[in-house]
Amino acid sequence: MKFGTKAIHAGVHPDPATGAIMTPIYQTSTYVQTSPGQNKGYEYSRTHNPTRTQLQDALAALDNGRQGLAFASGMAAIDCVMKLLKPGDEVVCTDDLYGGSYRLFTKVYAPYGINFQFVPMHDMAAVEAAVTERTKLIWVETPSNPLLNIIDIAAAAAVAKKAGALLAVDNTFSTPYLQTPLELGADIVVYSLTKYMGGHSDVVMGALVMDNEELADQLAFYQNSCGGTPGPQDCFLVLRGLKTLHVRMQRHCENGRRVAEYLQQHPKVGKVYWPGLSTHPNRAIAAKQMRDFGGMVSFVLKGDEQADAIAVLEKLQLFTLAESLGGVESLSGHPATMTHASIPAEQRRKSGLSDSLIRLSVGIEDIEDLLADLKQAIG
Ligand SMILES: Cc1ncc(COP(=O)(O)O)c(C=O)c1O
Repeated sequence: MKFGTKAIHAGVHPDPATGAIMTPIYQTSTYVQTSPGQNKGYEYSRTHNPTRTQLQDALAALDNGRQGLAFASGMAAIDCVMKLLKPGDEVVCTDDLYGGSYRLFTKVYAPYGINFQFVPMHDMAAVEAAVTERTKLIWVETPSNPLLNIIDIAAAAAVAKKAGALLAVDNTFSTPYLQTPLELGADIVVYSLTKYMGGHSDVVMGALVMDNEELADQLAFYQNSCGGTPGPQDCFLVLRGLKTLHVRMQRHCENGRRVAEYLQQHPKVGKVYWPGLSTHPNRAIAAKQMRDFGGMVSFVLKGDEQADAIAVLEKLQLFTLAESLGGVESLSGHPATMTHASIPAEQRRKSGLSDSLIRLSVGIEDIEDLLADLKQAIG
């Protein structure tokens, strides 16, 4: 089945009780048992819920995996992966990643004796050099948030395999429409469903997708034991969002390209970060592992002054200044004070994140209006 057909149909079946085409919202915490232990496969909604089951099956199908697990947020999904680790284990992760992931790793799990090494992963030699016999997990985010660095997933998978470590890929920026990490050798695909997968900025959720029963069973055990599961209404909203994922992503990519090209030729703009630009250092790897280049674009103004960046952000109108990304509407953000404020300034500078960087989530509005908004704000 092709991607667009899968986005609409995969994992989803008419409701067995009523024939409803759209998955019902099973708003129930518990299920009848005809005799103790005798049930229809559902006993308590933290463990299983039919709306969530259909979403999990749809997510697995889109990533060409076999198991999907849904969570109450992207962070709850990432937290579940961390539960696989024990004190003394090491994680090698990209130095340019979502601030909340950095905070979870360094403030929550490092105190439990898990050691995190942050390395510039676009240089695979740096990854190999960081791996030790204690490395149990390699953590990749590609394209990365917010610098749109590209990491070679197949090469990272080879390093992980050699080290006997798992490879997890945060695929939030790409979605399975653009990139399917399991096919490149990853063990776990991680999502904030809050972004492109839900697509309408109306839900906070996360997911993991695997193609390994034993690993999936272990993660499902933590999902149920720790309880960070989503409610059925949120699962329904993401199921609805997925049905248009391919159409939305196509337009996000088209608009992303036009915005990146516009910014690149603008006399007041300095560096533009978008993996499809010929100037992007890892464009060839992006072209190899992605089907298009996405709708996230970051840039700095010439002079690299934070005050100038803030003035532009205050003037933008269609690109609403707000946290988050991946919805149908365009958003703008200032990572240094918003999404990445939890990363210490020194670490931000080390990974190349300037305090004047502006991050755009390019929506699916008419491109002429988006370019006009950038023009009036940048001048
Ligand atoms: C790349 C990435 N991963 C994970 C997350 C966390 O997801 P959530 O906000 O749904 O918990 C985010 C949130 O912005 C993100 O951008």
